Amino acid sequence: MKKITIAIDGFSSTGKSTVAKQLAKALGYVYVDSGAMYRAVTLYAMQHQIISKDSFDVDRLISELDSVKVSFTCNEQLGFAEVYLNGTNVENEIRTLEVSQNVSQVAEVSKVRRMLVNQQQQMGKEKGVVMDGRDIGTVVFPDAELKFFMTASAETRAKRRYKELLERKEEVSYEAVLINVESRDLIDSTREDSPLMKADNAIEIDNSNLSLKAQFETLYDIAQKVI
Ligand code: C5P
Repeated sequence: MKKITIAIDGFSSTGKSTVAKQLAKALGYVYVDSGAMYRAVTLYAMQHQIISKDSFDVDRLISELDSVKVSFTCNEQLGFAEVYLNGTNVENEIRTLEVSQNVSQVAEVSKVRRMLVNQQQQMGKEKGVVMDGRDIGTVVFPDAELKFFMTASAETRAKRRYKELLERKEEVSYEAVLINVESRDLIDSTREDSPLMKADNAIEIDNSNLSLKAQFETLYDIAQKVI
């Protein structure tokens, strides 16, 4: 069986990472959550008072980028890689609503993107990778053999994210989550550098009414035909 690159892009909280993880596991591929990398850089900026609710010192972030090391280490128990910031596991910290509220501003910075895109390209150079994000099929791996573009209504996505945050015991309102999902989509799809968009040859999947199982089976069947 030949090894290919599978890119899964789409709007916030479309369940990309869930299906990407399942697909990677079923194919024996590596899964890379590129959003986790932007979240880790954002966490660094928050921890160092570079970004807050009403200020963002872009120049300082750029000048400190050399000291921001994002890496992945496989959690054998869970069976997938977790993200580390300068050697510390930050898998939980990066999933908070506060990080979600700052991440799209950080992801607009070209120098941040160049650093992370280089790293993503390195991680995928052997192929046999499923990577999810916003620009994987357009910028990171424009030659990927298989590209998906996931969509769902904003309300469906906010409901999913809200449930996820409650399960993590975060005190948030549904309205705040919906506002965040919509504002990230707007920033992500209108930014100058690598905006979120469907690659011409990506297969669009609207999963508003698909169960997780049906969604996985749809992607898996398509992947089997390409591999
Ligand atoms: O995938 P996730 O929702 O965790 O991504 C968090 C944010 O990181 C996105 O809203 C987007 O601003 C940024 N991102 C990006 N390019 C990627 C992956 C994520 O700009 N490839």
